[in-house]
Amino acid sequence: MVSHSEILASNALLNDATAPRVAVFVGATSGIGKLTLHALVATGASTRIYLVGRQSSFERTKPFIDELHALNPRATIIWTEGEYSLLSETRRICNEILAKEQRIDLLFLTAGYAPMFTDRVETEEGIEITQSLAYYSRILFVLHLLPALKAKAEVPGRVITVLGGGLERVSALHLDDIDLKRPGNFAGAKAQAHYLCLNSVALDKLAEENPDLVFVHAWPGWVNTGNVNRGVKEGTVWAWFVRWFLGPLIGLVSIRDEVAAQRYLFEATSACFGGAGVEWKGQPGVNVKGEEGRNGLFLVNFRANCTPNLKVMSVWREKAREGVWEHTMGVLRPYF
Ligand SMILES: NC(=O)c1ccc[n+]([C@@H]2O[C@H](COP(=O)([O-])OP(=O)(O)OC[C@H]3O[C@@H](n4cnc5c(N)ncnc54)[C@H](OP(=O)(O)O)[C@@H]3O)[C@@H](O)[C@H]2O)c1
Repeated sequence: MVSHSEILASNALLNDATAPRVAVFVGATSGIGKLTLHALVATGASTRIYLVGRQSSFERTKPFIDELHALNPRATIIWTEGEYSLLSETRRICNEILAKEQRIDLLFLTAGYAPMFTDRVETEEGIEITQSLAYYSRILFVLHLLPALKAKAEVPGRVITVLGGGLERVSALHLDDIDLKRPGNFAGAKAQAHYLCLNSVALDKLAEENPDLVFVHAWPGWVNTGNVNRGVKEGTVWAWFVRWFLGPLIGLVSIRDEVAAQRYLFEATSACFGGAGVEWKGQPGVNVKGEEGRNGLFLVNFRANCTPNLKVMSVWREKAREGVWEHTMGVLRPYF
């Protein structure tokens, strides 16, 4: 159990030696990514951050970047533009970053939304957009940036994906319809549950193949970012439901922004989850293989506690992982 005061104490120790020197944030033009990015810069550490965002977000993100530079002149924020819901764009963005950086310490992935009350919308590459944002594009970012994340063996790179780590259920993963094309499978919360399972399965594979890295799949609980409004079709009864009931309810029960920001900064920088970073003297995190004090994949809940879901993860490792990986590589291969 990690207390909030322990999180604050750990984050207070962030400095040039322990903070990520180079970080890539995808999805930090709003929400949890933006909160975490702000908290990282506010530490005063010298850091270089690639803020990946789509063109339509630039105007409203520019003042935020200016604010970050004023807050910490030792931080450099590099706006990196692209439509990363497209895999070809994800590849281009990664190549642009890799042309400038040999080493990346942190990859922080938060883009996307739950298609709770929307129809299927495919990108021009034929991938349903929420699945691309929550899964395929995220995994492609990891695969392209792997060499840079592994560049310095004594300081293991770290990947954090924010979606639903710890909520995996065997029945939520549609192995016979991974892209949810069959009628009924792409429906509300079912799709989001499927995407979070895919993330855990794929990251389990990546963690096993890259034992020198740290992977965190975080479940944020409720943070009042407005994310729920994204997956709603205007003019429907669901839009009304979200506006007048679900949205205000989330506002009431959600975790405060400052608390969430410190939790994700902790997950990005504490040696609680293996790797380098701020030394951790408390109970070490437990990875999805049940190991303590090692690297690997950590499923972390909204209180920053590890919930390794050992039973489900071991069933999938045996029965699902290779199939999911093969399918995923089939989709991603044209974009290497
Ligand atoms: N907040 C919660 O309580 C909660 C709970 C459970 C799971 N989650 C999941 O955790 C992740 C992070 O949540 P959040 O609340 O931080 O999300 P958010 O603030 O609503 O959005 C995060 C990012 O997704 C990007 N995005 C959304 N739609 C896009 C599109 N069509 N194309 C490209 N980028 C798009 C946004 O870009 P723009 O700024 O350009 O719009 C933003 O940078 C999401 O996957 C969310 O589903 C959140």
